[in-house]
Amino acid sequence: MSFKNQPTTIVIFGASGDLTRRKLIPALYNSYRKERLSTPFRIVGFARRPYNDETFRTRLAGGVLEFSPESFDEALWNEFAPQITYFQGNLNQSDDFSNLRDYLSDLEGEPFNRLYYLATAPSFYEPVVSLLGAEGMADQTAGWRNIIVEKPFGTDLASARALNHAIHKVFDESQVYRIDHYLGKETAQNILFFRFANTIFEPVWNRRYVENVQITVSESVDVEHRGGYYDKAGVLRDMFQNHLLQLLALIAMEPPASFEADAIRNEKVKLLSAVRPIAEEDTVFAQYLGYCDTEGVAEGSLTPTYATLKLNIDNWRWKGVPFYLRSGKALATKTTEIILEFQQPPHLMFNLAPDFDFTPNMISICIQPNEGIHLKFQSKVPDSDQGMRSVDMEFHYRDSFDDTSLPDAYERLLLEALERDPALFTRSDGIEAAWIIMDPVIKTNEGGTWEQVTSYDPGSFGPVEADELLSKANHTWRSGCEEC
Ligand code: BG6
Repeated sequence: MSFKNQPTTIVIFGASGDLTRRKLIPALYNSYRKERLSTPFRIVGFARRPYNDETFRTRLAGGVLEFSPESFDEALWNEFAPQITYFQGNLNQSDDFSNLRDYLSDLEGEPFNRLYYLATAPSFYEPVVSLLGAEGMADQTAGWRNIIVEKPFGTDLASARALNHAIHKVFDESQVYRIDHYLGKETAQNILFFRFANTIFEPVWNRRYVENVQITVSESVDVEHRGGYYDKAGVLRDMFQNHLLQLLALIAMEPPASFEADAIRNEKVKLLSAVRPIAEEDTVFAQYLGYCDTEGVAEGSLTPTYATLKLNIDNWRWKGVPFYLRSGKALATKTTEIILEFQQPPHLMFNLAPDFDFTPNMISICIQPNEGIHLKFQSKVPDSDQGMRSVDMEFHYRDSFDDTSLPDAYERLLLEALERDPALFTRSDGIEAAWIIMDPVIKTNEGGTWEQVTSYDPGSFGPVEADELLSKANHTWRSGCEEC
């Protein structure tokens, strides 16, 4: 039976928080608008604050209006909202969970599937999972019971393993959906189609043709009101362990044999397991000037808000090709981009000026904000003798698919979880493989052994040390998205 004909309840723990208002409800509302939710469906918000159904719905309507204004339609909202109810309770109180269990059975009245969503602070993940287990709420006799776990998944390898262990005491791995919203971005998903639904790119996607790969996730916002969280996390936990390594896996993994979740996830884990331990000289850590004045940030904090890491992948395809990963807050632009820079032609027969700056071929995948793909190649300058210039062959979603606006990542991910397809979610071994890469880097940085936390100006492109890291290997940062 298709998912759409199966009654389903989505239970959001920590429902009074920002994520529910900003992302989850707009995503579910848009799926409802596109008639993609099951019938009947219910959404139950669980949190401590004293809302009732009406006040909770009003708060959520405000969220859709604010974060998805183009799709808000009052009549449609009034049709959607009655399926949302609120249950007041504490995330670590067993009585509240047994009451929730009874409340859900009364509400559902018949066998229902259930998707639990952990939108709480991470410290509640284990208590909630264990109370769900204690109340028999992971039992699948009356329909499937799956659970989505938000990031951060652990703060290091040991805590991620402990969390996996605690979850597996209650839920089988097949019931667990660890979310990384970068995997729900249309353009991140398109990496697999670009690589494996075309024949012309894959033959050159290796050490014989690729000079280096650059993955940039640059943010113009600073840490805003999240100083307390961010100062403990830093850019390595906040962005690298999850989003950047997931992009790396998609861009570098071997072709999966099928579009099955495990076929894809096996390849991602294999790739991450082939990343060589990162050496000190392959890292740059930096903090933007003024960060320490943020509320919640410790005085004299050395938490990096920016990092560049040079990674080597020890496998047949990528031996000798550096992968440069960088991310930071308070930078000049908000851009997520992946560049494959190709090697120079073995011999240039043209009469070029000695100082001619030759731009090699590049594929640039713009994940956001100007979603598209660019291919750079050399062209003869018209009406010149042997003048040459790099030109751009571009694909933009907005031109090729003009009637389709790109859905928010959460919309896709929630639908995939409701369809019970975990391909876009991280498996337990995938999370651990990512921590195995990042844990030593974070520990060495935090332990002060690698002391080079340098600084950069807000609004800049990051510290000069990051440029120097590339220039040591005769490389330079490239960008293709800027021409969008
Ligand atoms: C989150 C990080 O996971 O991703 C934030 O915690 C960051 O610090 C955000 O700003 C970036 O996501 P996006 O989709 O805006 O690139």
